[in-house]
Amino acid sequence: MAVFARAPGLPRVAWARGVEVVDTDGRRYLDASGGAVVVGVGHGVEEVVEAAAAQARRVAYVHGTAFGSDVLEEYAAELAPLLPLDDPAVYPVSGGSEAVETALKMARAYHLARGEDRWVVVGREHSYHGNSRGALDVSGRAALRAPYLPWLGPAVHTSTPQEYRCGFDTHPHGCGLRHAERLEQTIADAGPERVAAFVAEPVAGAGLAACVPPEDYWPAVVEVCRRHGVLVVADEVMTGFGRTGRWFASEHFGMRPDLLTAGKGAASGYWPLGLAVASGEVHETIGDGGLVHGFTYSHHAVGAATGLAVLRRLRDHGLVGAAEERGAQLAGLLRERLGDHPWVGDVRGAGLLVGVELVEDRGSRTPFPRSRRVTEQLLAAAKELGLLLYPAAGCADGSRGDAVLLGPPLVISAAEVEQVVERLVAALDVLADRLRAAGPG
Ligand SMILES: Cc1ncc(COP(=O)(O)O)c(C=O)c1O
Repeated sequence: MAVFARAPGLPRVAWARGVEVVDTDGRRYLDASGGAVVVGVGHGVEEVVEAAAAQARRVAYVHGTAFGSDVLEEYAAELAPLLPLDDPAVYPVSGGSEAVETALKMARAYHLARGEDRWVVVGREHSYHGNSRGALDVSGRAALRAPYLPWLGPAVHTSTPQEYRCGFDTHPHGCGLRHAERLEQTIADAGPERVAAFVAEPVAGAGLAACVPPEDYWPAVVEVCRRHGVLVVADEVMTGFGRTGRWFASEHFGMRPDLLTAGKGAASGYWPLGLAVASGEVHETIGDGGLVHGFTYSHHAVGAATGLAVLRRLRDHGLVGAAEERGAQLAGLLRERLGDHPWVGDVRGAGLLVGVELVEDRGSRTPFPRSRRVTEQLLAAAKELGLLLYPAAGCADGSRGDAVLLGPPLVISAAEVEQVVERLVAALDVLADRLRAAGPG
């Protein structure tokens, strides 16, 4: 029996602590992406491991329709004041895609409970919300959707802010309002009485490498949604739990969504935990037990214990503020060291979610041809130099557009931030040598 591996020829991981991962050959890597922007509290935190183990010893599993648990109630109570929703109700699942699927069903259930048969979901171009079919349908990333198009359904997609590549003739003025007009048109085309929800990341993660929308964007799109009775779903799977220097990225814009999804940083990789959160109004309208839905591993007590330990660690060690501070240092150093680099088009982001976009020509912002596989080559060069990054290829037009995402554990020190930047600069030098040696693409 073989492992159906995600990629060929992978090194085997041995152990990890803090911001460092070590493989079985003893090679050390600085984890500048926290895996897939997952690890917030750092690798190897004993108290989180202990909290999970202690709960598993008490009771590892009961079904969510048979028992509640004190630990889940405690987790929900400590999480509630940190969430950007009024009177929130938390539905814990096993990851981001499940959280998105759950939120979509909550949106439909809410409208049905009000006697409205709404089902169309509006997503955004270039977005990523998960690989299960409902979540992929909402996602706009063409390359991920392509093999499964016959299976994808009724979601429609609207424009997304991408300030570096903004096509509006009034740019940089009023871009948020123009996107809101596009959203309103998309809703009108779909038939406003059919549209259930608008799903978007407050700050775009993997699809666009940390694009921060202009300030006028969120107030304008929320207003459009409210006017048409469309629920606002903030996908905070990547941005939640301190990543952007706020507990949730919605806070940067004063945004109060109706539904919110989280995952990744919620349990920092110590447990596969995702969360779908409904506002009090949505929850009350659906009612406890009113959602036709469920997973074997939802409402898991070990997941709640792990999430609670991670939450307390983030809070008690001031890691949300640290993300803001170290993120400013990281973005500042990258701009300082790479600001004149002929291929670095843009450095952007919020907190410790930072994107670096590479272009063939800075003046015209022309992306490299996809055939040159620049993102993949940079990732490989960085890994050889002991630096782990996360890819965000396709950010220009769905196919072309090379970018990497940095999202290290929030415990990263100032000295480690400097090392990350040094290694990224060195990796870009290696990449330049390799591209020159390969000749024009
Ligand atoms: C914004 C966003 N939503 C949803 C998901 C899906 O999460 P998962 O891979 O845990 O299913 C991801 C994963 O990268 C994500 O970035």
